[in-house]
Amino acid sequence: MQLTVTGASPPGPPVDLIGIIAFEEDLSDPSALTSLLTSWAQDPADAERARERISAERFKATPGQTLLLDSEGRSGAKRMAIVGAGSRSGFDVGRYRDPAAVLARTANNIGARSLLIAEHNSHPDIPSLERLEAIAQGVLLGVYRFEKYLGVTKRATSALERTIIQITSGQLRDASPGVTARAINTARATCYARDLVNEPAGNLTPVALANDIAGRAVKAGLEVTLLGPEQCRERGMGLFLAVAQGSSQEPRFIHLSWRPPAPRGRVVLIGKGVTFDSGGLSLKTNEGMQDMKSDMAGAAAVLASILVAAEEKLPIEIHALAACTENMPSGTAYKLGDVLRSMSGRTVEINNTDAEGRLTLADALTYGLALNPDVVLDFATLTGACVVALGPHTAGVMSNNDAIRDSWLAAARRAGEDMWPLPLPPRLMEQLKSEIADLRNTGERWGGALTAALFLREFIGTTPWVHVDLAGPATTTKEWGSFCKGATGFGVASIVEYLRGFAMEPRASVADAVTPKSHA
Ligand code: BES
Ligand code: MN
Ligand code: ZN
Repeated sequence: MQLTVTGASPPGPPVDLIGIIAFEEDLSDPSALTSLLTSWAQDPADAERARERISAERFKATPGQTLLLDSEGRSGAKRMAIVGAGSRSGFDVGRYRDPAAVLARTANNIGARSLLIAEHNSHPDIPSLERLEAIAQGVLLGVYRFEKYLGVTKRATSALERTIIQITSGQLRDASPGVTARAINTARATCYARDLVNEPAGNLTPVALANDIAGRAVKAGLEVTLLGPEQCRERGMGLFLAVAQGSSQEPRFIHLSWRPPAPRGRVVLIGKGVTFDSGGLSLKTNEGMQDMKSDMAGAAAVLASILVAAEEKLPIEIHALAACTENMPSGTAYKLGDVLRSMSGRTVEINNTDAEGRLTLADALTYGLALNPDVVLDFATLTGACVVALGPHTAGVMSNNDAIRDSWLAAARRAGEDMWPLPLPPRLMEQLKSEIADLRNTGERWGGALTAALFLREFIGTTPWVHVDLAGPATTTKEWGSFCKGATGFGVASIVEYLRGFAMEPRASVADAVTPKSHA
């Protein structure tokens, strides 16, 4: 897909489809509607027909609502599509990804080879370049499909070859190549994460995952360390290895590093990398196991994101860690009642082998702490309880540091990913008490997302830390905006946005939130 930016207002270069992103307010305000219509319908008759269709089809510009119009041919393109973006109030720049994705898919569906997304009545609070970046991302994400295992005849033909995004200010247009490149980087990494998550667990074993990312990481200029079971044992990763011991597939601990000269800070990213979660001896039901190839979505997000950091040569030191394993029941599986020793030295009594993610993450957190980071962020499809709490589209965010949590949430908002803070109530810690070990791995039913996070906090201490439970949004059963069915690549856009922001932030303001360290 070719992406270009134009300044011409339609009719400009001839295209098969002109796309307009409209807000609900445009539809309820007659003068806004007039200007929206005249921005592309040069022919007054086209504008009149559009008005008729808008009222006949009750087009209100609700999110994703689409109206496809045919022109008599005097309006710069044969066909035009208006896609709703919802209300302007509370609209964040990242939200532009959704209507842009719908436009790209609409173009594909009607066999349009070229699409012009016209700049129109955009959002008053959103600068054109930011809008461009989100729209470009949306277009690339919208046409993603996982078709590796489909026969040629079952593959959808993608018509769309060229998308042109209009920016009317010439000065801004000059800055657009850099912005478009960033959008392409983010979208490509998101699609890579989607590919990894969509890949069946029978093929994407821990070793296969490690090898795939290692190949790309080396090319990107990252330092790659892969630890097998013996090396993990030497380091004392007793929790991670206990989860792995039930599987005949070898585990891999993946450690990728981006080390630029004179870094402005050090960030550790950790992703849950359970390539298949059967529940272990606390076996899941058939229904509960259905989607569990996606239990490595956190790992996919951090591994894909660090590739972008290297590509853009961000001036911060970044480490991406993923303790990758299957969670299987077998004669060698870890058992209920087992007491395990973590890399940190703390012991854990197992009362549910299906709470395996926190075990793998705990050892990764300890490994990460040894890197002496300014901030640690972890991403995990950790609990069904988080999906119960926030629904399937929103990730839960828990942290031991309010300032860091807020700057993370701000990055997620800019990126257009739904995240919401959850508390870490100290009183729930009593549920993690064990009679025979320092901790047990699960609490009671209610508040399961919080006890999981409290468990993790025991291993991070006071180092600024953000935990993102993405069990809900990592996959979707419905196509929606920039998400297609299956893996969403959730997290990548926010991580990349956060890292770019971290790289730009004046150190004085970072110091408010994190303890400055020397990185000699
Ligand atoms: N991978 C699951 C969490 C999950 C559930 C992700 C649904 C995506 C969709 C995790 O390992 C798990 O099994 N969690 C248990 C924890 C419980 C045993 C305390 C859960 O949520 O039921
Ligand atoms: Mn589990
Ligand atoms: Zn799991």
